[in-house]
Amino acid sequence: MSKLFITGQKRLSGCVEVQGAKNSALPILAATVLTRGESVIYRCPDISDVEASQRMLRWLGLKASRSGEAVLVQSDGLCRHDIPDELMRQTRGSIVFLGAVLAAAGRARLSLPGGCEIGLRPIDLHLKALRRMGAVIKERHGWLDCRAPHGLKGAEIALPFPSVGATENIMLAACTACGTTVIGNAAREPEITDLAEYLNRCGACIEGAGESEIVIDGVKELHGCDHALIPDRIAAATLLCCAAATGSEITLRGVIHPHLGAVLPLLEDAGCQFSASGNELRVRCPERLRSMKMIRTMPYPGFPTDAQAPLLAAAATADGTTVFVENIFENRYRHTAELARMGADIKTEGKFAVVEGVRSLYGAAVEATDLRGGAALMVAALGAEGKTELSGVHYLERGYDHPELTLSALGAEILRT
Ligand code: UD1
Repeated sequence: MSKLFITGQKRLSGCVEVQGAKNSALPILAATVLTRGESVIYRCPDISDVEASQRMLRWLGLKASRSGEAVLVQSDGLCRHDIPDELMRQTRGSIVFLGAVLAAAGRARLSLPGGCEIGLRPIDLHLKALRRMGAVIKERHGWLDCRAPHGLKGAEIALPFPSVGATENIMLAACTACGTTVIGNAAREPEITDLAEYLNRCGACIEGAGESEIVIDGVKELHGCDHALIPDRIAAATLLCCAAATGSEITLRGVIHPHLGAVLPLLEDAGCQFSASGNELRVRCPERLRSMKMIRTMPYPGFPTDAQAPLLAAAATADGTTVFVENIFENRYRHTAELARMGADIKTEGKFAVVEGVRSLYGAAVEATDLRGGAALMVAALGAEGKTELSGVHYLERGYDHPELTLSALGAEILRT
C-alpha cells in the first residue's frame, strides 16, 4: 500500500494542466460497448477508475489500451454480457455498464457495485427507468439479471431526482432503442453533456443534454469516433483548494470557467482573487482565508458534493466559522475525524458540518477513507505545519492522475512511497 509524505506550508507557484474529467471518462468508456469500430478518447486521466473500466471492456470482448494520454478502444461487438463481482467492485461508476451492455447485448448480468463508502448509493432510479424501457430485471443474491426480450423501447421518464448515473444509464440504453426517449428532470452536469457529445459523434441523436429535458431518438447503430474529454472540474477545484490552503498563487491551464461557477465565488468570498484568460485561470490566495458563507451541495449548477471535502479542508484554517450542508450523500464527512487529528475544529451532525477555523493545522498520520475525503487530507497536509503521512492513497488514485507529480510541479514537498 503506497503512502504520501507531505511536508506542509510550502508556497505553491507555477502553472499546471488540469486532467481530463473522471466522471466523463467512465460513462464514455462504457458507451464504447454500443459502438462498432475504433474510438480514441483523448485526455483520459491515468487513474485506477479508468483502468478498471478498461478491464471491464476487455472482459466484455473489446480491445482497450492506453497510449499516452489517450485510451484506444476497438469494438467489434460483445462476446459476453456479464461483469463479475471483482470487476464491478473496482469502481462505483461501473453501474453505467448496465444500460450500455443491456442495449448492446439484449441482456446484462452484473453484480451490484461495491459497498457503502459515502452513502447508500441506491440504484432504484436506474432500474425503474430501464424497466419502463422494456427491461425485465431480477435482483438476486447481489446480482442484477436484466433482459430486454423484445428490445428496449423509447419511453418518457421523469426522474424524481436529477441523478447523474441514472441519466447516463438511460441515455446509454436509449441511443439504440426503438423510438424516442424523453428524460425529464435530467441531471445537468457538464459530464452529461460530454457523454452526449461523444454519443452524437458516434451517430446517436441526443438533444437537450445539459438541460432538464433530454430527448433521445433511437438509431440503428453507432460507430466509434475520436473525442477529447472535458477538463475535470473537481480536480481543478481541488487544486484551487491546495492553493487556498497554502496562501499561494498558481495558474491552471485547460479550465472551462463556467464549470467552476459555483466554486469560484466562494473562494472569492474567502479572499482569493481570480483572473481568467482563454482557458487559463490564475488564482492569488491571501495568507489566511476568511470564513465563507454557508456552503450547500446541490446538483449542477449548484456547488458540487465532490468539491465539499477539499473546500472544507481549506476552511479548516480560515479566519472564522464556515458551515457546510451536504445534501447529496448522507455519509460524506468521514474525513473530518482525520482532519481532527491534524488539529481541525469541526463538528458534524447529520448533513451539517460546522468548521471553526484554527490558526494552523499540524502534520499527523492520517488515512483516506474515500476519494474526495483523501483529497481533503492532501489539501490540509499541504497547509499544515510539519509532516503528514497519508495512507489510503489508493482512494486518491481512483480520481487524481498522479497528484504527487502535479503538486511537486507546483513546488509542494510531496513524496510517494
Ligand atoms: C455521480 C458522480 C459522483 C458525484 C455524484 C453527484 C460519477 C462516476 N460519479 O455519482 O462523483 O458525487 O454524481 O454529483 O459520475 N440516488 C437514488 N437512487 C438512484 C440513484 C441515485 O436515491 O437510483 C441518490 C443517491 O443516493 C444520492 C443522489 O441520488 O443521494 C445523487 O446520486 P447520483 O447523482 O446518482 O450520483 P452518482 O451517479 O452515483
